[in-house]
Amino acid sequence: MTLDRLGRPLRDLRISVTDRCNFRCVYCMPKSVFGADYRFLDRKELLTFEEIERVARAAVALGVEKLRLTGGEPLVRRDVERLIAMLAPLGAELTLTTNASLLAAKAQALAAAGLHRVTVSLDSLDDATFRMMNDVDFSVSRVLDGIEAAADEGLPVKVNAVVKRGLNDDGIVEMARYFRDKGHTLRFIEYMDVGATNGWRLDDVVPAGELIERISAELPLEPAEANYRGEVAQRWRYTDGSGEIGVIASVTQPFCGDCTRARISAEGRLYTCLFGLRGHDLRATIRAGATDAELQEALAAIWGKRTDRYSELRSEATVNLPKVEMSYIGG
Ligand SMILES: C[S@@+](CC[C@H](N)C(=O)[O-])C[C@H]1O[C@@H](n2cnc3c(N)ncnc32)[C@H](O)[C@@H]1O
Ligand code: SF4
Repeated sequence: MTLDRLGRPLRDLRISVTDRCNFRCVYCMPKSVFGADYRFLDRKELLTFEEIERVARAAVALGVEKLRLTGGEPLVRRDVERLIAMLAPLGAELTLTTNASLLAAKAQALAAAGLHRVTVSLDSLDDATFRMMNDVDFSVSRVLDGIEAAADEGLPVKVNAVVKRGLNDDGIVEMARYFRDKGHTLRFIEYMDVGATNGWRLDDVVPAGELIERISAELPLEPAEANYRGEVAQRWRYTDGSGEIGVIASVTQPFCGDCTRARISAEGRLYTCLFGLRGHDLRATIRAGATDAELQEALAAIWGKRTDRYSELRSEATVNLPKVEMSYIGG
């Protein structure tokens, strides 16, 4: 097993398959920055599916148990189901995080290719609020159609909602009730200071503790045990046995001590922390002709040197450091 300098194994690889997205969520890709003249990566800059498969295979050999495709919006990458079919034989759990805009059309192909589960991002059930947050006038109902299409294909669905104070926090109880009744696990995510473009302020964060209190006042909750080491969501179950929800408290209760995740950007830079600044250029290693063994060694060497624990060190001093964008590095 490969451990980093703080004794953490590499278990989870998030793979960004594109830096592009058809949404402009205000907390992720604000239009003011990601407008018409924003320079996205060219096709030849992206890792090919074959290159992604090699990195994933090396990661699995080092102990990775979970592969998550993300972006940008992973479903805008052409033929992404072909990549899924290439990754499925590696034996790791295979998941995908999506805004679900294209999920109704793609669910069947994704399931057939061997995807195990999906995580859908949906921040509000209120149509006006959701249209404002995705900033491309996309309706809630089309996302819900995508969720149901995935469920119909037998894919377990989790729903992630980023909460920004004053924008969508008035809808959290309604969301909790709706997804409890549908049987899909809902997780609320604290709005994070990733990237430099979303104008993040601590005042915009609704602490997970407050979210739980507000929901529990109407739908009583009790804490549930974590499923495994490094689980990012804290689990809470409804006391009437009707299901559970999660909260991801990356800002108010950072969990770096248990972080077993690495991320690879669409152009093949490996990041060992969401707040890593430069990443490690695995594409250069691959395109210089590295063998599978050399690629695995390179990955092990990067992980072995890892000391990141940004969220635990977050302070006045770190707030102004340059940071990579979530849409680039993969959420
Ligand atoms: C960057 S997106 C990529 C995948 C896909 N486009 C989606 O939205 O599900 C992955 C996740 O990151 C979350 N995210 C983006 N910016 C964030 C921020 N500033 N704080 C917390 N979560 C954020 C999104 O809500 C989404 O659940
Ligand atoms: S959160 Fe996902 S859907 Fe929204 S802009 Fe970022 S990448 Fe796109």
